[in-house]
Amino acid sequence: MSRLVIISNRLPITVNRTDGELHYHPSAGGLATGLNSLDDSYNKIWIGWPGEDITNEWEREAIRNDLMKRSLIPVFLTEREIDLYYEGFSNKTIWPHFHYFTEYTVYNDEMWAAYEEVNFKFFQAVEDQLREDDMVWVHDYQLMLLPAMIRAKFPKISIGFFLHIPFPSYEVFRILPWRKEILDGILGSDQVGFHTFGYMRHFLSAAYRITGYEHEFGRLTIGDRQVNVDVFPMGIEYEKYAHPDVDAGNDQSSGEIRKLHASRKIILSVDRLDYTKGIPHRIRAFAQFIRNNPEYTGKVNLIMIVVPSRANVDQYQSLKHEVDVLVSRVNSEYGTFDWMPIHYYYRSLNFAALTTLYKEADIALITPLRDGMNLVAKEYVAAKEDSKRGVLILSEMAGAVYELNDGALTVNPQSSKDIEDALIEALEMPVEEQERRMEMMQEKLRQYDVKHWAATFIKEQLKLKEKNKMHN
Ligand code: UDP
Ligand code: G6P
Repeated sequence: MSRLVIISNRLPITVNRTDGELHYHPSAGGLATGLNSLDDSYNKIWIGWPGEDITNEWEREAIRNDLMKRSLIPVFLTEREIDLYYEGFSNKTIWPHFHYFTEYTVYNDEMWAAYEEVNFKFFQAVEDQLREDDMVWVHDYQLMLLPAMIRAKFPKISIGFFLHIPFPSYEVFRILPWRKEILDGILGSDQVGFHTFGYMRHFLSAAYRITGYEHEFGRLTIGDRQVNVDVFPMGIEYEKYAHPDVDAGNDQSSGEIRKLHASRKIILSVDRLDYTKGIPHRIRAFAQFIRNNPEYTGKVNLIMIVVPSRANVDQYQSLKHEVDVLVSRVNSEYGTFDWMPIHYYYRSLNFAALTTLYKEADIALITPLRDGMNLVAKEYVAAKEDSKRGVLILSEMAGAVYELNDGALTVNPQSSKDIEDALIEALEMPVEEQERRMEMMQEKLRQYDVKHWAATFIKEQLKLKEKNKMHN
């Protein structure tokens, strides 16, 4: 069996230092939680950053040894690299730009140079590990130059690339001064995957207009190589959310969640603190819903789980402030002595509390302004496997909407009116309709789970590998 070499900026395990001690915990975000669900049917290693500025060589060695037990290989970043490559080019240039927040895009040559350097650093880490018959799978926007770097040294090796975020329209993409280098980097792969047809179409159009490569049914011919570009919507580990561990749900917070639910309807949102997630818009829409529909006063709670993310980047700091202010304004304006409309938690949750919330919530209100996929929406639906009760309200701007639009109530996240109407519809929805909608969504998610996603991507890549072998 050929080995699968996964490379992503972030490993599924993040290290951090509290009170001088190193601690390991699961990484948040769709890439880590999704990919980490792949079972042992792959002989795999995973190369990536463990997420902290570790300078001390004996600490690095200790981390290397600990991670090696899980076949994880750390790439350590320096403070400067974290600043210019991770917080800089990745999260101040590509992340906002690809999510259509062009007003946030920073154009800075030093950051670009650091992005090239760190992609090369990953290449060096990979180079040490690679064998000719390995299958390489590079993930996400932080490592878009890596496929071409690997290709230059290993012309015959099989390389896949998957982008977990949107690929923007050509008109937006072409604004980037480094657009050609980015495309050339990705096109070092044999196979390039996206969550939705729209992202793929944007990529193919950019590739044609910027590099001149024309495609035929998603196939590009580059010299003597073929590059396959296709759509692979990422799924979740369905069973894990449908039937969480028996122990999950017996902890204290799960009990408290159930107690809260006994008296009120729960509207739930779960996201990293990110401006793409539409959190302030959601709070304003919820306030409008309360204002216009006073009969719901005291009857519903919005529980917002906001997971800390990229806290050193300016926009994330100001968003934190904005959300804090908005929540306290809504609670102080609309709350009563025995009712606080919004329960707001700025932290990550353990699996038990997260799945209890999914199970208990009457409504999931997921309203990103732009989101590559959004796995939280899928996890919520899976968690309703037994009860079938609950309504998913989902933004039109999330990649997940293309699979879930027959069961979800879809909204334009910029429209408070849309969200207000959807909340009323969800709160009033007859049980039979909730069940019907849930079942439709569950059927798809059960079939197209994360294993199916990875297996399809890898199967297509293997086919290409065989084909290319025959041509050589
Ligand atoms: N998640 C987590 N910790 C939490 C809350 C959520 O790890 O406290 C997970 C959640 O289960 C989901 C992922 O983070 O798998 C978020 O993925 P999504 O695709 O929704 O958004 P992303 O963060 O990748 O933009
Ligand atoms: C999104 C990105 C991932 C990233 C995750 C968490 O899901 O697509 O690449 O790992 O957010 O962000 P972070 O910056 O903490 O890795």
